Amino acid sequence: MTGNAVDFAPLVYGFLVAFLAFLLGWRWRSRRLGTLLAIVGFAIGFLFAAILPALWPQRTEEQVAPVATGREGLQDVAFLGAESCRECHQEKYDGFRHTAHHLTSQLPSEEAIRGDFSADKNVFQTGNPKLSYLMEQRGDEFYQTGILQRGSTEERRTERIEMVIGSGKLGQSYLYWHQGLTADGRQFDLLFQLPISYVTGSGKWENSPGYVDGEPNFERGIFPRCLECHATWFEPIEPDQPTQNAFRKDAFLLGISCEKCHGAGRDHVDFHRRNPDEQVARHIVNPGSLGRLREIELCTFCHSSPGEPLQPSFTYAPGQLLADYVRLDPLEAQNRIGVHSDNQYARLSKSPCFIGSEEMSCTTCHDPHALERGQLALFSERCMKCHAPERCGMAKEIGPSIRQNCIDCHLPKRKDEATPFETPEGTKFVELRDHFIGIYSDQTQEFMQRVKNASAGSVGASDP
Ligand code: HEC
Ligand code: HEC
Ligand code: HEC
Ligand code: HEC
Ligand code: HEC
Ligand code: HEC
Ligand code: HEC
Repeated sequence: MTGNAVDFAPLVYGFLVAFLAFLLGWRWRSRRLGTLLAIVGFAIGFLFAAILPALWPQRTEEQVAPVATGREGLQDVAFLGAESCRECHQEKYDGFRHTAHHLTSQLPSEEAIRGDFSADKNVFQTGNPKLSYLMEQRGDEFYQTGILQRGSTEERRTERIEMVIGSGKLGQSYLYWHQGLTADGRQFDLLFQLPISYVTGSGKWENSPGYVDGEPNFERGIFPRCLECHATWFEPIEPDQPTQNAFRKDAFLLGISCEKCHGAGRDHVDFHRRNPDEQVARHIVNPGSLGRLREIELCTFCHSSPGEPLQPSFTYAPGQLLADYVRLDPLEAQNRIGVHSDNQYARLSKSPCFIGSEEMSCTTCHDPHALERGQLALFSERCMKCHAPERCGMAKEIGPSIRQNCIDCHLPKRKDEATPFETPEGTKFVELRDHFIGIYSDQTQEFMQRVKNASAGSVGASDP
């Protein structure tokens, strides 16, 4: 917990009561009695003032300050946020608003946080019987408290959830701000991860990925590259230090907004507001006109390993040569399934589809301006732009409903063994699609079994 500042309240209250008692005594006929009254009054006032705060819950400085929104200082930067694109690109905005990109970092709210704060769901008991965590909603604020039993005493540490990372498709982690000092005494706003995350697969609070079950840990700093992949804009205080978790607290932009993929929008918006008849876009990047490799780089900037930063985070802009900014892990090393280690490009780039066509990029199958998750028939339509379904060896056996789902057989789901969640019930994993588009006999057999089992014989989509 944060250290308490010296509390002057008892003295102030004490003097106030003493003064009132003294005034009363002054008007009393006896001067001596008046002085006595003043002394006793002061003592009582002081005692009350010393005891009362202990009866009230302590309000630390952090609890009083509102959650930082990153808005006050935004006029200093070139990013405006997705709202500012809406007036001229309504349709794109309306679709984009629901995407995992937009929702991947948010301020805390009942809507944003997936975890359950209700009384029977808000305790996480670790495998260590002495350590548990309590998740609480107090008004419109949200807290995590670590409770550690040490002998007969109980140590508690409470931090407020001040940022939510993850749309909740797979899970969410939570961050808090804390002031820190550098060796030379400068004060910084530091960002840390909270020990408890929410995992959608289990529907529960769990240890944050990579945390050791049963060991309290509030100290994991959030490095700039983490926010570079999960937000539009942050300003690292020491940009040359890729592990320093200090950021400007008054100017940041959450969510992966339009401008992350199209470049900062201030000049574009200014220009087109002043020139409403101009139909040729200015001062904005259309990744679709960069050529396929440069366009894919925009996606691999985040959908690849974290790699090794060569330039400070938040300096890369779409259209630039990514290799100048980050040294990604070699494709072979990325060639695993993992939220943070797999990479769709490493797998895709080995597929006959990718090798055999000149134009295939991520946006051949994905529209970044809409939430299309789970719509396997829609994704299958995109396959059929290049492949007549009859070409598939299974077409005869399955019949016309094959059009509903090419995906489960050719881009199967795989366990992400690189991102284990340690839970008291054992280690858990999430599942992701393998972007190596190929022929998988196991998945085909499984699929055909499902078809047989389905009473109506329709090839239902798998769970999204
Ligand atoms: C005042 C109107 C206006 C606003 C606000 C606006 N745009 Fe545009 N934008 C245009 C016009 C006009 C065009 C050119 C016609 C078209 O492609 O729709 C355009 C085109 C684009 C293009 C295509 C560029 C190309 O070369 O094909 C992108 C990308 C784009 N805007 C992104 C954005 C983003 C991101 C924002 C918010 C930061 C934004 N726009 C806000 C008016 C606006
Ligand atoms: C700034 C980093 C970043 C960039 C650039 C980026 N992504 Fe993402 N993408 C993410 C993150 C982070 C998520 C996970 C969001 C979440 O669920 O919290 C994600 C999720 C996705 C998803 C899953 C959506 C879902 O609903 O299941 C798809 C598909 C995707 N991105 C495709 C793309 C494509 C295509 C591009 C390039 C045009 C791209 N991304 C560029 C970071 C990025
Ligand atoms: C190199 C870019 C990158 C870095 C660095 C990165 N992430 Fe991610 N993260 C992603 C992508 C991409 C996904 C989505 C994977 C998918 O949907 O296939 C993701 C997914 C997640 C998810 C699950 C989101 C959901 O709802 O599905 C969480 C939570 C998360 N990241 C937290 C973090 C935290 C916390 C950090 C830093 C400590 C971090 N990530 C660092 C790119 C990154
Ligand atoms: C994850 C990256 C990403 C995000 C976020 C994103 N876009 Fe795009 N956008 C692209 C890519 C890639 C293209 C080119 C390929 C395509 O058209 O799908 C594109 C194309 C466009 C175009 C060109 C017109 C067109 O349809 O070809 C406009 C306009 C545009 N985006 C506006 C927006 C606006 C406005 C937002 C936010 C509301 C936004 N984009 C969010 C990646 C993104
Ligand atoms: C841009 C065009 C294009 C798209 C879109 C496309 N493919 Fe392909 N695909 C190809 C090409 C080219 C080849 C290699 C030559 C061939 O077999 O036709 C190929 C090969 C294949 C193969 C044979 C693989 C092997 O190991 O021999 C399969 C299976 C396949 N595609 C399935 C799919 C599925 C499923 C989708 C949708 C998720 C898809 N493709 C989307 C162009 C495409
Ligand atoms: C040939 C089609 C195709 C191409 C090309 C493609 N994807 Fe996918 N991708 C899919 C399908 C299908 C899914 C599963 C969607 C679902 O279940 O909702 C998917 C899922 C995803 C997801 C969600 C995580 C998961 O595995 O479930 C991400 C992230 C993603 N793709 C990123 C990318 C990126 C980045 C690229 C470019 C390097 C790319 N994809 C290229 C078809 C494609
Ligand atoms: C039940 C699983 C399953 C489904 C569903 C499925 N495929 Fe296939 N696909 C296979 C298998 C297995 C093969 C290999 C068949 C063989 O070699 O006889 C194959 C082969 C292919 C090939 C390569 C043919 C060649 O000439 O080598 C393509 C292209 C293809 N599928 C596309 C599709 C498309 C497009 C869809 C959706 C419309 C689809 N598949 C749906 C299992 C499936």
